[in-house]
Amino acid sequence: MRLWKNLIVACAVSLLSAFSASAADAKDVKIGFVVKQPEEPWFQDEWKFADAAAKEKGFTLVKIGAEDGEKALAAIDNLGAQGAQGVIICTPDVKLGPGLVARANANQLKLMTVDDRLVDSKGRPLEKVPHMGISATKIGEAVGQAIVDQIKARGWNMKEVGAIRVSYDQLPTAKERVEGAISVLKKNGFLAQNIFDAPQSKTDTEAALNAANVVLNKNAGLKKWVAFGLNDEAVLGAVRATETAGLKAADVVGIGIGGSDASINEFKKSAPTGFYGSIIISPKRHGYETALNMFNWVSTGKEPEKLILTSGELATRDTYKDVRKQLGL
Ligand code: GLA
Repeated sequence: MRLWKNLIVACAVSLLSAFSASAADAKDVKIGFVVKQPEEPWFQDEWKFADAAAKEKGFTLVKIGAEDGEKALAAIDNLGAQGAQGVIICTPDVKLGPGLVARANANQLKLMTVDDRLVDSKGRPLEKVPHMGISATKIGEAVGQAIVDQIKARGWNMKEVGAIRVSYDQLPTAKERVEGAISVLKKNGFLAQNIFDAPQSKTDTEAALNAANVVLNKNAGLKKWVAFGLNDEAVLGAVRATETAGLKAADVVGIGIGGSDASINEFKKSAPTGFYGSIIISPKRHGYETALNMFNWVSTGKEPEKLILTSGELATRDTYKDVRKQLGL
């Protein structure tokens, strides 16, 4: 009887201390947040909101930029060596999928992805790795709809408009975004032969500008243009190319995706440019919520949902302040 009593007391004590340890030891939790393009405002914002989660919960956040596969793998080893327990990554190359998973396992790191979802050698998503991304097709459709609305508002003849499809098709979310936009354009009578692919070598403004220049030079006969792509940077590059080609803002409709400083700075310019709008997505959810989910996973063992897709909202120079406020940005 006495033995049983002692056993029960001992169990209760160890349970209690395990419980309080997990609550008190937030300071021992270390989480890595690795991004593919640290200079891009979207990723700066993601980091900012992840930092807010770390401050609120008292864990340590280690931010690492990894512009190529080698750096991404090294970042994971580095986090393992520092004793981190989890890592959230927007990888520079989704095909690194199985390699990244193996490396995270070897370093005993819990792994989550954000923005760009890992794929296997056949291009299928790695569904076991928890992921938060944008609902790419839907947001692409919103881009397409905003473009169609502007074509109509400006009284253009749909059949005489060219479209620059700034593309980065090796990244599934990028392809889904532009294909979403194209589906709406076509549904509204946009001519398929007037949609021109401008493949960018990198997902930044300069690469998009170079790719769009080629399209505009080859199709100088078209005088009205629309542009869309993976993000704000892609569309800004296309809009800068239209300016170089001598087109006026009134003859160009670019709609980006993002809504961070890249597009806000454009809206703040004294005169409108061809960058008409952006679908504002939420760096707060992608930074704060992913970091919080990882913290809970590490400290309580509660695994995050396998797939969270976030939404977006169209903003223009007239509406962006209100839309940002609504989204808590
Ligand atoms: C990709 C893009 C980023 C941003 C995110 C949003 O990673 O490269 O610019 O649009 O998706 O999820």
